[in-house]
Amino acid sequence: MKILVGVSGGIAAYKAAELVRALQRQAMDVRVVMTESATRFIQPLTFSALTNHPVRTTLWDEGELGAGVEHISESTWADAFVVAPATANILAKFAHGLADELLSTIYLATNAPVLVAPAMNSKMWEHPATQTNLNILRERGVRVIEPDSGQLACGTIGIGRLADPEEIANAVLNALGRRHDLAGEVLLVTAGGTREALDPVRFLGNRSSGKMGFALAEAAQSRGARVILVSGPSALYPPANCELLRVTTAEEMRNAVLERMTEATMIIKAAAVADYRPTHVAPEKLKRTGPLTIELAPTEDILAAVVERRRPGQLVIGFAAETQNQLENGRAKLLKKGADAIVINDVAKEGIGFDADVNAATFLTRTTSTEMPEMTKRKLADRILDEVVQLRRPAQRVEEFDESAAPGVSDERLPVKDEPFLSPRQKRIIIEE
Ligand code: CTP
Repeated sequence: MKILVGVSGGIAAYKAAELVRALQRQAMDVRVVMTESATRFIQPLTFSALTNHPVRTTLWDEGELGAGVEHISESTWADAFVVAPATANILAKFAHGLADELLSTIYLATNAPVLVAPAMNSKMWEHPATQTNLNILRERGVRVIEPDSGQLACGTIGIGRLADPEEIANAVLNALGRRHDLAGEVLLVTAGGTREALDPVRFLGNRSSGKMGFALAEAAQSRGARVILVSGPSALYPPANCELLRVTTAEEMRNAVLERMTEATMIIKAAAVADYRPTHVAPEKLKRTGPLTIELAPTEDILAAVVERRRPGQLVIGFAAETQNQLENGRAKLLKKGADAIVINDVAKEGIGFDADVNAATFLTRTTSTEMPEMTKRKLADRILDEVVQLRRPAQRVEEFDESAAPGVSDERLPVKDEPFLSPRQKRIIIEE
């Protein structure tokens, strides 16, 4: 999706850089246009470096269409136009149809949804002229992301602070009809690799970076889920407002997952958990004295432990890192572990998977197999969640089932009958609930 960010001239203009980043984290292609006064607060260079697109500041640039008509190409390019910060002046221009600079001209020329995030001194915000202009815009379908209250640049405290960039980005996603289909869900997702100590300085680990698990956390959160992210050591920043539990060993990950899984409605185990740990951890750094044999003991299978303790309606999705016979091994893992689905990764392919920004996968349930070709991990996260949402459907159909309309209908004829991933006992519990 393509987002045009308009920056007008207020002190909050620097926060537009954070907005650009927040939109990019949602896999949006972002371009920026600025008013001349915005360029006094922040340089166009900042935005062109962030977006990899030139930044327009006037109507008179030479572009593909030629000088004086470039606003038309910007306004047709965008799937959404968001102005942040929107000053009282730009709001007034939008409300009254002025078109004497680039942003207000684009506003008149675009068919895309328009959002404005005002930021100004509280007296200017409260002035009837500003409020009337905002009402005119609201009536025309412009979405207004209300400013926050707090300390303002002029030193006073009051309403007028630009809304949080994450909130603005979410409003853009909503305006684009990006589904909020995980609202009410709590996702527990594991990420990264674990480390098993050999001595005080060495460990057994793997190449997992955590990127896939973090992308799942971010995608689920933007679709309305509350997210608990349990991660092995990783250099990545968690998405804002996501609860991050950092762990190091497989045992610590097991404890964190089992402790928090009761809160979750969905559990996705994207972590590359160590299968073995040294039976003995040397108290001092091991010296090189010749050949060394290390005895390893198997770690507990966290996914299997989760499946054992799951409650009805709780979805459990595993990952399978495979280097050969992906489908066959994935299918065997799905059955062995008792998960609702397995995401199979071909970790032997060059350039994708471990530590890469892109990945490809097969989403396997007991009855379906969905190929997901190479794409960024953030996009793949959304594709995986699309499939997870599909797994939810039977439970919703159960909720829709009206027993009074068919009293005494036997279990055999209930709508969950054909859902293979619910045991007969689970079906009955859901129906009874
Ligand atoms: N997993 C787990 N606990 C472990 C090992 C793996 O919970 N001790 C989970 C992973 O998070 C993943 C799934 O099991 O969701 C499959 O992991 P993978 O490494 O592909 O398979 P293993 O079960 O380790 O089997 P193998 O190494 O023999 O292929």
